Amino acid sequence: MLCALPLSPAHLAPRDAPRHAPTPKTNKSPQARITSHDPKVVILSGGPNSVHVEGAPSVPAGFFEWAAESKVPVLGICYGMQLIVHLLGGTVTSAENGGEYGRMPIDIQQGSALFEGQEGAPGGLEPQVWMSHGDEAVKLPEGFACVARSRQGAVVAVEDKARRIFGLQYHPEVHHSQGGTDTLRHFLLGVAGLKADWSMAEVLEEQLARVRELVGPDEHAICALSGGVDSTVAATLVHRALGDRLHCVFVDNGLLRLDEQARVMATFTDHLHLPVTCVDHSAQMLARLKGVSDPEAKRKAIGAEFISVFQTFADGLEASLGHKPRFLVQGTLYPDVIESCPPPGSDQKHSHTIKSHHNVGGLPKDLKFTLVEPFRELFKDEVRALGRLLGVPERFIARHPFPGPGLAVRVLGDVTQGDALDVLREVDEIFVNTIREFGLYDEIWQAFAVFLPIKSVGVQGDQRTHSHVVGLRAVTSADGMTADWYAFSPEFLREVSTRICNKVRSVNRVVYDITSKPPSTIEWE
Ligand code: XMP
Repeated sequence: MLCALPLSPAHLAPRDAPRHAPTPKTNKSPQARITSHDPKVVILSGGPNSVHVEGAPSVPAGFFEWAAESKVPVLGICYGMQLIVHLLGGTVTSAENGGEYGRMPIDIQQGSALFEGQEGAPGGLEPQVWMSHGDEAVKLPEGFACVARSRQGAVVAVEDKARRIFGLQYHPEVHHSQGGTDTLRHFLLGVAGLKADWSMAEVLEEQLARVRELVGPDEHAICALSGGVDSTVAATLVHRALGDRLHCVFVDNGLLRLDEQARVMATFTDHLHLPVTCVDHSAQMLARLKGVSDPEAKRKAIGAEFISVFQTFADGLEASLGHKPRFLVQGTLYPDVIESCPPPGSDQKHSHTIKSHHNVGGLPKDLKFTLVEPFRELFKDEVRALGRLLGVPERFIARHPFPGPGLAVRVLGDVTQGDALDVLREVDEIFVNTIREFGLYDEIWQAFAVFLPIKSVGVQGDQRTHSHVVGLRAVTSADGMTADWYAFSPEFLREVSTRICNKVRSVNRVVYDITSKPPSTIEWE
């Protein structure tokens, strides 16, 4: 099985349902740790294992008996469903056709408790859901019924109505699973009878209080602004909590888009009124990246360079303020955490790292700062909602995400090769400007160009060329955890490819990426 989309506290609650803190580490037995929370439901999340692999995650002994006695409904998602089937006497095997990845229509049967109110009319439209699995359930445990199948015939939803144990092979929590949030909402509010009574305004107050408590009344913090939504909203929130004890730094790392430094600095000072110092670290960063091709090595090197800039910045502040900031504010999101390390509170020692997001997996072990990460359990749409509450201008909130390692993850291989960064900047600018011109910017989650380390043969001005190939990527998404490629019109694609090849002389071929996440990721590295 190949899925790595574990549920977070944020996902556990649809946008207006109650939230719970992650499980703290204690000496209690695993089952006692579950019961100590007095949970009203348990969701067994997805993960990258197969139930047949030794050491694969499992529930504690006696878990199902406890759930039945306590009348706590259980929902297994993806790996979680396979675990339920496997442990309760059914059979899970490796799918004969290799599994299902990406979108898949499903047929929901009538009379299911989990899908109450969601069944389609017989012969009606089938919802499309997001799959990511290689194993599947082929025989169900006693008491269970199959309540939905994929178009390929796989069991995709099971339930034991009497024991209130449910399983979904697909990911209902992701944006592209049609009706997925309704199914989760029905499970939490309808089946389990929970109440939806929290709001983003409460999350904001909670985070302001947490930041004040963590930093205390006298200490100072620094915040690295990347120009993206997350760090900007994080800085605005912490600025509200700490006032002038927050010191922001914008690092030009040599991996920014065209004119980004000037654009971003103007926004910070003119519209957000945040105190920001700009540090030019581009020469050092590019020197450090020379000859580094491995994607993870690049990410780690960038993370380390960032930290060294922050140390120097903090040292400089100590000299002028007489007070060395001990705290580092980061706009880390929950997806960054999921993809970089094991789920919080899981006690897992080994992570199935997908990417070391520079502000999580790229941090050095001897970090001299205490991290302040108000969004570590939030998703981007939630951070955008907080940003609106904090009065961050809409224009800024609607900006497409830009990764901390910048263009380094968009130049495949060594970023210092030839004119790669310059070519990429030009192509990216043309692509994004054309998207704006066609009025498509707000429909798209993220759009960017990728520099490919290959050359292709072309013909320009009756002459043979041997020039660069660039890739274009544009995706729709709600949280970056899953994504679908954006279906541009042929007119748009023709226009943008013509503009790129005419204006960027060293490019003779443009390709468009038509892969969803999964199986790809949004960035190419
Ligand atoms: P992937 O490529 O993992 O990207 O599907 C998901 C979202 O995260 C962004 N991304 C990053 N953001 N530091 C960041 O701040 C990183 O190291 C990083 N890597 C990916 C990516 O642009 C997309 O929005």
